[in-house]
Amino acid sequence: MTKRPRVFSGIQPSGTLHIGNYLGALHNWVIDQDKYDNFFCIVDLHAITVPQDPAQLRAKVRELAALYLACGISLEKSTVFVQSHVSAHAELGWVLNCQTPIGWLNRMTQFKDKSAKQETVLAGLMNYPTLMAADILLYAAEYVPVGEDQKQHIELTRDVAERFNHLYGETFVIPKPLIREVAARIMGLDEPTAKMSKSTTALGHAIPLLGDPKATRKAIMRAVTDSGAEITFDRERPGVHNLLNIYQKLAGGTQAEIEAHFAGQGYGTLKREVADVVLATLEPIQTRYNELTADAGELDAILARGAERASEVANATLLRAYQRVGLR
Ligand code: TYM
Repeated sequence: MTKRPRVFSGIQPSGTLHIGNYLGALHNWVIDQDKYDNFFCIVDLHAITVPQDPAQLRAKVRELAALYLACGISLEKSTVFVQSHVSAHAELGWVLNCQTPIGWLNRMTQFKDKSAKQETVLAGLMNYPTLMAADILLYAAEYVPVGEDQKQHIELTRDVAERFNHLYGETFVIPKPLIREVAARIMGLDEPTAKMSKSTTALGHAIPLLGDPKATRKAIMRAVTDSGAEITFDRERPGVHNLLNIYQKLAGGTQAEIEAHFAGQGYGTLKREVADVVLATLEPIQTRYNELTADAGELDAILARGAERASEVANATLLRAYQRVGLR
């Protein structure tokens, strides 16, 4: 049997998980689960690069673990674990910090965006990408399935790994981003020129995975569109484009088929059909989520097993990297 290529990805346990996270990342992880040897992480160390309420953070970690499973991540096919449970992440992150020119971090667009929103910019926020590089490199991941907004971070990971390999000899596998063409960047319903964001709490902005169905339908029906009437994948009309993108990812079909399906219809019909496919997707996820969260002990046991499996792989890479730079 040929070995399946390794995949690593993660989501921060912060804010409210939305349909963008699902369509851009989680859903793709699930679809491709059989193709790869998967490591899916709950990146709590990344979450603390901006201030978090400790009790809430702890609850969010369990919530996200349950959501991974509710969305269809299978423990037979994937290792699910929490980043802070595997100390190698922080340790390799430090080694990579000591190998990364500060100018590379200063150029990161997410750092610029996020730091502009903070009263005090913490050093951890700047070093966020080196920790992300550590996540990926520890598992020798060949592919990293993410939404489009993470592309620059993965490019940095490649640069850091190449620099390290060049200086110290072959140590890390150089990963590639796995970004789907459809729904790699879902936009806010209220502002279709801005990315749908976990941290934006404005009502009507996001479609939360655990949201109330009535509120979700209402938000979709009120989504900002333009004054035109045609339902086509025209990028000049970002509101309609965004709704069609969500529809295409969930209902399937080519752009031409979908445009033919909606030909002669109004925006009301488009919104109603988008709401129908979204709610049909979310309903079983929410049901499963409620079952899973009923037993916190079982979730904790799952995460402990995941951390054990992840540690085995991660510690071997960490030791190699430590030795390369003259430690241990
Ligand atoms: P995070 O937690 O912001 O987002 C999780 C995943 O969701 C994708 N995503 C989107 N996709 C489409 N449309 C959107 N509006 C949208 N918003 C978010 C993200 O691209 C991501 O795939 N830095 C990462 C977490 C991370 C990580 C890693 C990812 C830490 N270490 C190692 C991969 C590998 C982040 O903040 O994702």
